[in-house]
Amino acid sequence: MSPCLIRADAKPVSFQSEVVPLLQKSCWGCHRPGKEKGGIDLTSFSALVKGGKHGPGLQVGHPDQSRLMEEISGPEPSMPKEGERFSAQEVALIQRWIKEGALDDTSVSIGRARSMPVYKAAPIIPSIAFSPVGPWLAVAGRGEVLLFNATNFLPTARLVGEAGRIESIRFSPDGRRLAVAGGQPGQWGEIQIWDVAAGSQLHAYRSTFDSVYGADWSSDQTRIAFGASDRTSRVIEVETGHEVLKFDQHTDWVFGAAFLRDGQRLVSGSRDKSLKMIDISSGKLLETINRESETIRCLVRHPFEDWVLIGTDVRPRLYKAEVKKEHSDPNDDSNQLREFEHFDGGINALAFSPDGKCMASSGSPAGEVRVYDAVSTSRKATLRGHRGVVFSLAFSPDGSQLATAGFEGIVRVFDWAGERLVTNFVPVEISAVDSMAQARKAHEP
Ligand code: HEC
Repeated sequence: MSPCLIRADAKPVSFQSEVVPLLQKSCWGCHRPGKEKGGIDLTSFSALVKGGKHGPGLQVGHPDQSRLMEEISGPEPSMPKEGERFSAQEVALIQRWIKEGALDDTSVSIGRARSMPVYKAAPIIPSIAFSPVGPWLAVAGRGEVLLFNATNFLPTARLVGEAGRIESIRFSPDGRRLAVAGGQPGQWGEIQIWDVAAGSQLHAYRSTFDSVYGADWSSDQTRIAFGASDRTSRVIEVETGHEVLKFDQHTDWVFGAAFLRDGQRLVSGSRDKSLKMIDISSGKLLETINRESETIRCLVRHPFEDWVLIGTDVRPRLYKAEVKKEHSDPNDDSNQLREFEHFDGGINALAFSPDGKCMASSGSPAGEVRVYDAVSTSRKATLRGHRGVVFSLAFSPDGSQLATAGFEGIVRVFDWAGERLVTNFVPVEISAVDSMAQARKAHEP
């Protein structure tokens, strides 16, 4: 029996949904960024094509001339070097994929929504954002973004994408688009782009083999930057998903990336303690901006200066993003503009007010949110009452309100200057019925 006959349909083999799962299962253990045995990374299409020590991994249309096929086929296949080898059907599937032209469908718009999430308890809220112009407050839930009217806080829409986990959400500068960074942990990362008013997904781009973090828009709205657990910071084009930058000189997870004003340079911060400034078109490291002494957990750029506020495991620090003066002492931390109050257990979230005059931070002590004068660094307000860690902070467009959310699953909106709670709500409907029971019910006549 020819294994090819198993697939009766004439649909071309999908790299993303058929080939990638095979490589992930049997090959990624030894062929991924940071562990590239034989010089080959098998976690993305471009890396597979690029190949390893002995040249390209495949020849499009020619399985018989492709190194990938050479390694996995024959009576004694040399790959996987350890573990269960591919079945004849699996080998045939990969062969057919190459023969059909090795179509890369990783970056095409996917837009396959999962079913509406059902909640039995308030979800952890990893990220919230006010639209800079429109009437929206966006709240990340479990695999979806919930939109609320930013005046009366009534729900207006649910944006359900494919990624089960969301790490960060960010409105475009004109407020019409929403970027969502997340993924399926341990499987793939995803950047989704939504048309906010229409409530529809415009694009979903896959990247890396794990959730991605800290999305940022370029000021002209054509590009998105983000960080990843594979120790890269990346920039993609919004319209095509084309990867413009993959910077790999961090040595640990990258939790955030921010464009500088010119859109030509990027700053990224990592658990490796470094804040790096990168030239996007050449991919070159321009400068390590900070003294690398504290783990960086989050970062945000000043609304109109090339200043970057980082949250470390100790305190918030503000840096100017520029090449250091010649002969500067690396211990001086000469690019640091200000340092803020110490937090016992470090920082989890940061936000600048839209006028850049204040900044808010949360961290440990858990449940406490503090607002500071960004110039004098003096504390202007302390917002209490949260139970557990606050993961996200957002100022309203006029700067008067601060929304907070996190572990507890409650969105709080404060008149922060008065330290007064304006409203609080659980952003989802909590159903007592479990999802299986509901699914069964839906099938009843
Ligand atoms: C246990 C580790 C391990 C696993 C699992 C593994 N490989 Fe490898 N692979 C290696 C090593 C080591 C090399 C370097 C050559 C050698 O020593 O044979 C290599 C080399 C290669 C090369 C040649 C690269 C070049 O240009 O020289 C290809 C292609 C490859 N592997 C494909 C795969 C595929 C496909 C899988 C999954 C089916 C896989 N490998 C699983 C360890 C592994």
